[in-house]
Amino acid sequence: MNSVYAGLGATIFDVMSRLAAERGAVNLGQGFPEEEGPLDVREAAARALTEASNQYPPMRGLPELREAVAAHYNAHHGLDLDAGEVTITSGATEAIAAALLAFIEPGDEVVLFEPLYDCYLPMVRRAGGVPRLVRLHPPHWRFDAAALEAAFSPRTRVVMLNSPLNPSASVFSRADLDLLAALCVKHECIVVSDEVWEHVLFDGRRFDSMLHPLRDRDAENRLGRQDVFADGLEGGVLPAARRR
Ligand SMILES: Cc1ncc(COP(=O)(O)O)c(C=O)c1O
Repeated sequence: MNSVYAGLGATIFDVMSRLAAERGAVNLGQGFPEEEGPLDVREAAARALTEASNQYPPMRGLPELREAVAAHYNAHHGLDLDAGEVTITSGATEAIAAALLAFIEPGDEVVLFEPLYDCYLPMVRRAGGVPRLVRLHPPHWRFDAAALEAAFSPRTRVVMLNSPLNPSASVFSRADLDLLAALCVKHECIVVSDEVWEHVLFDGRRFDSMLHPLRDRDAENRLGRQDVFADGLEGGVLPAARRR
């Protein structure tokens, strides 16, 4: 087995969910929805299998789904995303893996922020990337301008961002995203931004997508995100904002 994966062991989600089940504990470790999900959504999914096609979809996803995703982004983020810029995947992890494998050449440096979601580091290493970790600190989990700048070098190729950030449950402000975007433009690197929790916000918090500061700077960026419609029924989308 490849040494990156051989050294990994079980994911923390697997360990905690197994322990919670064994001990009858409340499981705050993994995001299992408490309910089955809306019946009309599950019925529509079942109808789609029996009445629509259950064959291979086009590789980039069903055109009507890509249209709907673009419309969603345009409505929620005031973007002008085209369906041609959207790729459907079978989850956020696939979208992130595809983006990291596509952009990282062996030896490229990749900036990541700790604490981080568990799949990023192994994927970066498996692609041959050299991680440059920037630690964020409570209670605000914001960027420190000097530490951020120090993580970039002429070899930086990709920045792996996650906002809202799992596990700290914090959201990067537009000011923080602007700071990061300026460095990404300066170093001509690509941002893979995992924004799967963009609609799960509390206390009136506002979410800004990394798409905005990069588009505003006429830069290139990629973003992987996930929508959880109901337990076990989810998809991933990969909008890729082209240079305008
Ligand atoms: C930040 C983050 N990224 C990615 C994922 C994985 O998404 P998927 O199950 O669609 O692969 C999760 C799942 O909880 C997550 O919290």
